[in-house]
Amino acid sequence: MIYLDNSATTRPFSEVLTSYTTVSQKFFGNPSSIHRIGMEAEKLLIQAREQIAGLLGVKSNEIYFTSGGTEGNNTVLKGIARTYKGRGNHIITTTVEHDSIHKVMEQLEEDGFSISYVPVNEFGQVSAEDIIKHIRKETILVSVMHVNNEIGSIQPIEEIGKILSNYYPNIYFHVDGVQGIGKQAISLKKANVDAYTISAHKFHGLKGNGVLYIKEGKRMEPLLAGGGQENAFRSGTENVAGAVATAKALRMQLQNEKDKMSILTQMNLYLREQLARMKGISIHSPALEKSVPHILNFSIEGVKAEVFVHALEERGIYISTTSACSSKTNKVSKTLLGIGVPEQIAESSFRISLSYENTMTEMEKVIAAIKDIKEWLRGVMK
Ligand SMILES: Cc1ncc(COP(=O)(O)O)c(C=O)c1O
Repeated sequence: MIYLDNSATTRPFSEVLTSYTTVSQKFFGNPSSIHRIGMEAEKLLIQAREQIAGLLGVKSNEIYFTSGGTEGNNTVLKGIARTYKGRGNHIITTTVEHDSIHKVMEQLEEDGFSISYVPVNEFGQVSAEDIIKHIRKETILVSVMHVNNEIGSIQPIEEIGKILSNYYPNIYFHVDGVQGIGKQAISLKKANVDAYTISAHKFHGLKGNGVLYIKEGKRMEPLLAGGGQENAFRSGTENVAGAVATAKALRMQLQNEKDKMSILTQMNLYLREQLARMKGISIHSPALEKSVPHILNFSIEGVKAEVFVHALEERGIYISTTSACSSKTNKVSKTLLGIGVPEQIAESSFRISLSYENTMTEMEKVIAAIKDIKEWLRGVMK
């Protein structure tokens, strides 16, 4: 099997699974219990939080465990809206965010908030200047993703963060970092980010685990109220094993980022070069200085996307038509339309998303398979 759908989800590292099962079996106590078994679990939770904080270069009281990217994004957007609705009702975001941002914005619009969706350029990037132009006196929040999940564009987070913190310190800055962490280096402190969303299953951790960084003093009203866990910010009995597994996955992924980024780049460049030589293929991901090496989006003219994905699957190769959550709805990608790809071409678009586990040999097999299927389809269509 050649798995190239790593932006949808990744296969957990075996070390992560071992951590999870060991902690689940040996340290199954409730961290809120005052007896020894509870305290042992609490100790592990504290350690996991400290490790993650250390890896991200932040304080441990700025780390909250969540169930993943969707929860992190909902927590910040809804929380900020509730906390600051007295100050203003305007929020700025971009046209290319994940649905866990856009759908929340729609809900907030129903609640009376006004949302500005800032468009992107032909590379899928928003400009800091455009974001700033949309600021009004009622603006309470700016939310921009770190890396786009469909075409891999990198957004100018540091630039936006710098301007906001210098000139608009009362506007909250949230970044959806789900596709960025472990693939595109960021210093949360240097970028002046107030909140950053992370999801563990995108870097070989487990589904249903996430981390939300919130700068000290920048907490909003919680989404989940209850027993007061996570320093009264995210109630619900803590998933200690998941937190320990997430810390392990993040450590391994950040190490890979240091050691293996050049291999990702090499694979990406090889795919681009080979695809560009084939007739009828257009590549939508912008050049590598503007996008991450693990996401490559392209179209094959006149080919039905599902037919192609299944033909690759028959050869043991797994890619996706567009982002995983919208691939079953047959909606044309708003990101591709946003960068000016005609609808007909956007309909036959594919996303290859790599992990540090993939190899050049696999890339050669993929290119051979794509050539083979193109040839076969030409025969069928004659
Ligand atoms: C950019 C982005 N944000 C948020 C999410 C949602 O993350 P999760 O699956 O952990 O809820 C995804 C998932 O694909 C994503 O790509």
